[in-house]
Amino acid sequence: MEEIYTNFLVIGGGVAGLRGAIELAPYGEVIIITKDIPTEGSTEYAQGGIAVALSDEDEVGIHFHDTIKAGDGLCKEDAVKVLVEEGPARILELIEWGAEFDREGSRLAFTLEAAHSRRRVLHAHGDSTGKELERVLINKVKTFPSVKRFPFCTAVDLIMMDNRCVGAYILRDSQVFAIYAQVTILATGGAGQLFSRTTNPPVATGDGIALAYRRGAVLEDMEFIQFHPTVLYAPSAPQFLLSEAMRGEGALLKNIHNERFMQGYHPDAELAPRDIVSRAIISEMVKTHSHHVYLDLTHLRSDFLKARFPRIYSTCLQYDVDITNDLIPISPAAHYIMGGVKTDLDGKTNIEGLYAAGEVACTGVHGANRLASNSLLEGLVYGYRAGVTAIKHKEKNNVKKDKKDSKPLQIKYSHIGFQRIEEIRTSLRRLMWERVGIIRCIDSLSIAKEALSEWQDVENSNFNTRRGVELKNMLTLAHIITETALKREESIGAHYRSDFPSRTGSSARHSIIIKKISGMEVSWNQEKLR
Ligand code: FAD
Ligand code: SIN
Repeated sequence: MEEIYTNFLVIGGGVAGLRGAIELAPYGEVIIITKDIPTEGSTEYAQGGIAVALSDEDEVGIHFHDTIKAGDGLCKEDAVKVLVEEGPARILELIEWGAEFDREGSRLAFTLEAAHSRRRVLHAHGDSTGKELERVLINKVKTFPSVKRFPFCTAVDLIMMDNRCVGAYILRDSQVFAIYAQVTILATGGAGQLFSRTTNPPVATGDGIALAYRRGAVLEDMEFIQFHPTVLYAPSAPQFLLSEAMRGEGALLKNIHNERFMQGYHPDAELAPRDIVSRAIISEMVKTHSHHVYLDLTHLRSDFLKARFPRIYSTCLQYDVDITNDLIPISPAAHYIMGGVKTDLDGKTNIEGLYAAGEVACTGVHGANRLASNSLLEGLVYGYRAGVTAIKHKEKNNVKKDKKDSKPLQIKYSHIGFQRIEEIRTSLRRLMWERVGIIRCIDSLSIAKEALSEWQDVENSNFNTRRGVELKNMLTLAHIITETALKREESIGAHYRSDFPSRTGSSARHSIIIKKISGMEVSWNQEKLR
């Protein structure tokens, strides 16, 4: 098997991975691997913007309180403090590196999104904020000759020695090779592809969480999935996000009878927290026997809409929807996972040599529900922190010396064919959407658990194709999410149980998931919320 040695291995090329790599680059050789082309990931598609307390009317303390309130009692306060306090420095640095955020005259322009009590969301090229971040970070990475980028490489397993992580096995063109590294940073993003309706790109199959879990990493709060309320629902159109910033600029939600409904559900109406808006939409869809509701911007000036949301305007137009004239059919879709690999404030996991940052990680910053536009900021702040701390770890993990003891990967690959993999993937995504989605209950979750157990042999198999590896990871995560959703017998944040519609005493506790020889163990973290 081919072997490569490096100081730092970064798995993932979104905001978190790139920001971490920039910190590492002056201290050794860095390899960044991405499953697809370098820019493919959620970061590239982020629309609304990046939240930061930089406007004259805002304060770090107010951003802190809004984040805590959105997290519905489950945010870790020290993690939120780091996010909001270090956020401004990370953004100013990005501007120094060439990020062009939209401005009003010479001043930065801030927009409003749900559950923010101030206009604090910076955006770029109207609705292409993530693309701008990715552009600037990639350009910065390219200035370091010590950084190598390997596209179309899928991490399939972590390499472990004496319970330490010393790199990863990588699949490229159906061949597996090993990258040994003194430090490995997981930055593989989210898992929206587990659900048949999602805003997430195809690479978002939760790989990093599954890989880490199998090798003994502690996971946290995996039941908390955020569903975005407004995603295009038009025949043959992709599940394209219609940014919350549109409601921030005045867009209204209407049912198929052209009636506004959000005032009946929450005093903040269209700008209520995402979980409330998503459930209200489902409720209206049920009442009106429809598969969608509408987003209405027709009362807003057409030239304003075209300038403010150019990417959304042109994308919708391709599917015969003119956002300046037509009601836009929308329904919710899976968008973000609040849980992930448990880390401390420096991105450290419980496995020596393994760090995690961005959507794959659970710092506790988002609690039970993420405040809009806080995740790009999290990727910057915690990607940076993981990088800074990983440098110090480098000398401790002498991979070359240890290599003598390593055992080469000996695995048998599954004969499950391409067609069967695709069939299971489709059924799994439907199952998760229908039974483990926006509204859950013991019956739906038990049906999901039962169905998942029938694919146990597939989950236990090994694959030498990207789609096979992804399916294995998706099945592992589906199990974990279903199990934790079953265990949390209450409704809190984005986790809604129709059979337990209010919160209970366990609401201030985090779910902790560990792989044991006997199987998955879910327990409650008694650690006090800091
Ligand atoms: P990603 O950007 O998703 O990058 C993941 C990387 O990991 C990719 O390079 C991928 O190829 C790689 N990867 C995955 N698995 C493997 C593997 N097995 N081997 C090798 N590489 C792998 N947040 C905001 O704050 N503001 C917004 O406006 C906003 N809008 C959004 C709009 C959309 C449509 C979506 C989907 C999300 C949005 N979010 C937004 C959320 C935010 O974009 C993401 O949470 C964030 O970008 C995640 O960054 P990341 O670096 O953790 O992962
Ligand atoms: C959006 O633009 O609505 C997405 C913002 C986010 O998910 O933070």
